[in-house]
Parts: sequence; structure tokens; C-alpha cells
Amino acid sequence: MRIVVVGPGRAGTAVGLAARRAGHEIVAVVGRDPHATETAASAMAAAALPFDTPLPDAELLVVAVRDDAIGAVARRLAPEAGAVGAAVHLSGATSVTALEPLAAAGLQTGSFHPLQSLPGGEIGAERLAGAWIAVTASPPLERRLFELARSLGAEPFALADDRKVLYHAAATLAANVPVAALALAHELFAAADVPFAAARPLVEGTVANIFELGPHAALTGPVARGDVGTVNAHLRAVAEALPDELDEFRAFVGTVARLAGASEIEGLVR
Ligand SMILES: NC(=O)c1ccc[n+]([C@@H]2O[C@H](COP(=O)([O-])OP(=O)(O)OC[C@H]3O[C@@H](n4cnc5c(N)ncnc54)[C@H](OP(=O)(O)O)[C@@H]3O)[C@@H](O)[C@H]2O)c1
Repeated sequence: MRIVVVGPGRAGTAVGLAARRAGHEIVAVVGRDPHATETAASAMAAAALPFDTPLPDAELLVVAVRDDAIGAVARRLAPEAGAVGAAVHLSGATSVTALEPLAAAGLQTGSFHPLQSLPGGEIGAERLAGAWIAVTASPPLERRLFELARSLGAEPFALADDRKVLYHAAATLAANVPVAALALAHELFAAADVPFAAARPLVEGTVANIFELGPHAALTGPVARGDVGTVNAHLRAVAEALPDELDEFRAFVGTVARLAGASEIEGLVR
């Protein structure tokens, strides 16, 4: 595919680098910061272009700007996009209708959301291999985007436009809540003089169990067993060592108790 990337940030650079390495041609990178645009373009052997100049002949425009800017950027690109066949944005939560100005200019439109954390261009490009990518588009663009995803070593799946926000809420929960729980565990391990690294096999084994057995069957520990005495001892120990963290710890115990159907423990921390 001949691809134009708009927005040389984390996701745009990751997708552009991965696409180039997969054999696609990145014909241009468009950005408002000349330095960032030049840097990303040279890494992709592409031309660096400012906004408000005609876009080169390309099959796909990848609008990789922050979610809130997609509509305005689509409006700005539309008069310049006569030589482009289709456009996608990369947002998991934003409707494809944000690209309406480009659709009105004759481009097919869709979205292409990597269900992966892309913290930077290089590392993000690596993370795309093996990731799943949500594709929201009508045929024939849908088929082309599935092919693009597979060429990156990713697993494409179709996502209905009216399910995107719910899907993204789930993705955010999956990515962020474990981080919050582990940040608290990190503090408790430190207070107990235990290296955090000791928890890594436990965490990785738990994640594997969740995907192999399902979330309910993967739940182990005193809350799932209904060991009220142990849970009470935990609460006392946390209250003593880290009183400022007790409310957060109780909230996590309450969530686990609800999952386990442990109503006595849920009552204890309510
Ligand atoms: N990073 C991830 O993990 C990830 C994963 C999946 C999907 N996504 C999606 O990818 C998209 C981009 O996210 P990101 O993480 O790459 O953000 P980012 O690193 O902040 O990059 C955003 C890019 O958009 C440009 N931009 C922002 N507002 C603009 C405007 N009004 N006009 C022109 N350019 C503008 C920025 O340019 P300036 O530097 O000039 O502001 C920057 O180049 C979002 O839709 C996001 O939901 C991100």
C-alpha cells in the first residue's frame, strides 16, 4: 500500500514504521511540528509535508492525531486529499463519522485501532506484531485493512461503529486497572521488605490463567476461598503499615469479593 501518515506522534510513528518494515511505502508524513515531522519521515524514508499542501497519490491516509482533533484535521485535509483512496483514524473510541469531511471528498473511511499500548514509535512498531487490531469499515476497505493488519503480523477483527465506546471502555479497564492494583501491591511489597520482582511469575501466571481458564476460574486467594480471618488480618496489617492506602486496598478487596460472590467479605469492606 502507498500510505500517508498524518500526525507523527506515538501511534502514527509506530504504525508507519511497522508498515514500512512490512513492505508498504510511506509516501509522506504530514505534521504541524516540522522537527517531529522530519524525524518521523526520515525514519520511514518518506517526504515530510506541512498541512495545507496537496497530499500525494496514495491508497490510504492514516489520521493519527489525538481523538479530539480527528474531526478538525479531517476538515483541514479534505481539500488536499483528491489523490487519496481511503482514510482511517486510529482511535478505539471515536466514530468513523469523525472522518465525514474526507468521506464527503470521495474517500472511503474507516478506523484501525491497535488494541495495544504504543508508548513510542520504535517500541510501538515492535508491539504491533502479535497485537489485535479493531477494524471498523465497510467492504472493500475492510478487506484492505484486514490485509494491512495481517501484513504487520497483527490479528484483525471487525468492530461495529456503535460498539466502539463500550469496547474502548473494556480495553481501558484491561490496560489500566491492573496497573493501579500492581502500583498498590508494589508499595505493600516494599513495606514488607520483599522485592517487587518476586511477584513477576505470580502476575504472569495469573494473566495466563485468566486467558486459559476465564476470569472467574482464575481467581484464587483468601477472598475466593472465603477465608474471612485472613482477609481481616490483611486489612489490619495494611491499616498499620500504610494507613493512607487502606481505602484503596479495601476497594480492591470489595471488587474481588463481588467477583467471587463472597458476600460476607464484601460486607466487611463496604
Ligand atoms: N499511543 C497508543 O498507545 C495508542 C494505541 C492505539 C490507538 N491510539 C490512537 O492513536 C491516535 C494518536 O494517539 P498518540 O498516542 O499517537 O498521540 P500523540 O503521541 O500525542 O500524537 C498525536 C499526534 O497528533 C498531532 N496532533 C494533535 N492535535 C493536532 C491538531 N489539532 N492538528 C494537527 N496535528 C495534531 C500531534 O502533533 P503535535 O505534536 O504538534 O501536538 C502528534 O503528532 C489517537 O486517536 C489514539 O487514540 C494510540
